[in-house]
Amino acid sequence: MTERIFNFSAGPAVLPLPVLEEAQRDLVELPGVGMSIMEISHRSKTFDEIIGQAESGLRELLNLPDNYHVLFLQGGASLQFSMIPMNFLPKESSADYIVTGSWGKKAVKEAKKTGAVNIAATMADGNFTRVPSQDELKLDPHAAYVHLTSNETIEGVEWKQEPEVGDVPLVSDASSDILSRPLPVEKYALIYAGAQKNMGPSGVTLVIVRDDLLARIPEGLHTMLDYRTHVEAKSLYNTP
Ligand SMILES: Cc1ncc(COP(=O)(O)O)c(C=O)c1O
Repeated sequence: MTERIFNFSAGPAVLPLPVLEEAQRDLVELPGVGMSIMEISHRSKTFDEIIGQAESGLRELLNLPDNYHVLFLQGGASLQFSMIPMNFLPKESSADYIVTGSWGKKAVKEAKKTGAVNIAATMADGNFTRVPSQDELKLDPHAAYVHLTSNETIEGVEWKQEPEVGDVPLVSDASSDILSRPLPVEKYALIYAGAQKNMGPSGVTLVIVRDDLLARIPEGLHTMLDYRTHVEAKSLYNTP
């Protein structure tokens, strides 16, 4: 094999060689199963064990309290830009967005298609070089939620600690810093991240959602866009 190249750019990232080798082996045959990971049913006991291990490993690493659900979804972090407002931004309410870079702007663009958005702060003026201080935030105490991007991948702007948002649910796009440091999960109502930068290969999106939030979801959403579908089906409503 040619020498392995370390790709530090902000996209799909390097996976450890032993992980790739195990995946390569399992692509041909899962040990003792007689079939590859690509061929077995997602309703099989083997698959159940694999997804169960992924969830328990994450729960341990993040020290996740029991009142948080772990979902493995598709559509990338980008689909979460839409699912979050569809599920949690009622027509009569508005959501606070703190914009510290390009991904936050994209999240705002999608949220506006569902409902009202209050830009609680945008650091665009300073060309996105820092997060706002607490007293720069124009938070609405009645907001449906506050959305931030924990690390703006393109501009390199990272929150070192969470802003104070009172009882308003805090939502974080943690795509490019999840698992890079200890996270006080209990400060968040929902955390989402595409897997490809910090956790694994592309194609899967992690959503961690606090249980009490599910009661806010309106009836009538398309089944695949409703978080309750994926909580109830343990991320196996459709073929992953
Ligand atoms: C912070 C952040 N949010 C969202 C995205 C979009 O993620 P995806 O490609 O999984 O939709 C990215 C990167 O691609 C990102 O860095």
